[in-house]
Amino acid sequence: MAEEILSDEHPMLRQGLGRLLGKVAVITGANSGIGRATARLFGREGAKVVCCDIQETITPRIDEVIKQEGGQAVFTKIDVTQQEDCDRLLTDPLEAFGDLDILYNNAGAGIRKKLHEHTDEEWNFVLNTNLNAMFRGARAVLPHFIKKGSGNIITTASTFGLLASAEYPGYCATKAAIINLTREMALDYGPLGIRVNCVCPGAIETPRFRGFPPKPTLSGITAEQRKTMGASNKALLRMGRPEEIAYGVLFLVSDEASFVTGHALVVDGGQTIDA
Ligand SMILES: NC(=O)c1ccc[n+]([C@@H]2O[C@H](COP(=O)([O-])OP(=O)(O)OC[C@H]3O[C@@H](n4cnc5c(N)ncnc54)[C@H](O)[C@@H]3O)[C@@H](O)[C@H]2O)c1
Repeated sequence: MAEEILSDEHPMLRQGLGRLLGKVAVITGANSGIGRATARLFGREGAKVVCCDIQETITPRIDEVIKQEGGQAVFTKIDVTQQEDCDRLLTDPLEAFGDLDILYNNAGAGIRKKLHEHTDEEWNFVLNTNLNAMFRGARAVLPHFIKKGSGNIITTASTFGLLASAEYPGYCATKAAIINLTREMALDYGPLGIRVNCVCPGAIETPRFRGFPPKPTLSGITAEQRKTMGASNKALLRMGRPEEIAYGVLFLVSDEASFVTGHALVVDGGQTIDA
């Protein structure tokens, strides 16, 4: 029987230190995996969190978890492949909490097959979910950040934006593009007080490995799958936990990282350290 990793209960999530007190954050893909652990951590650190996801069926929903812990959160159903939904990444936080300081573009998707086997629809689905959502989300919030003279944009890239993974063309291409778009945007918006960073997780145990939409249970990965994917994280030889990415994201958006921008923070248990 595989060991279960329940991000809502993992002891690694400690009581917060108020590092995001007074901040309003919007997170996409917030009801599962990395987004869920990060939304919960942000809530514990004092942020008001707008939790966005295309699916509401995982219970308890993440906003309820945050509220149960004394934090402030709302849930909003958003499909990041849709332009009008991405515009709500600004308007929903303004409506709920009167401001926005942090955009975390986290929702992502990939299709495992060779490039010549992709239909246009499949290719565009991956581009829309990963890269175009970053563009559309950033475009929606930037006028507000420019007006404030501050703001943080962070995106979940992947070690597969640094390394190639076979039969994963759209995913590898979009995650690499996210890393360099992060650098480009850091140049354009740094002078205006806005920091732009991304995080590159290695193999992390999340419901994503159980298909899309992920099954409502957080269990199900087999011991064999965990072993194989864990081995890809070459130094620590295990899969990472969503919380281990959340703490990297927290660092990047916090004032402790005030001199960090255009950075791709690799959190991968050593996956990328050798040839
Ligand atoms: N798990 C890993 O090993 C790993 C490694 C590197 C990068 N990543 C990246 O981390 C991010 C989160 O992945 P995860 O592993 O936590 O997956 P997950 O499936 O556990 O969570 C992803 C969430 O995004 C939501 N989502 C999917 N499409 C959406 C859309 N169009 N609009 C709004 N929400 C949408 C899903 O409903 C789900 O709640 C992704 O960008 C993924 O590419 C994951």
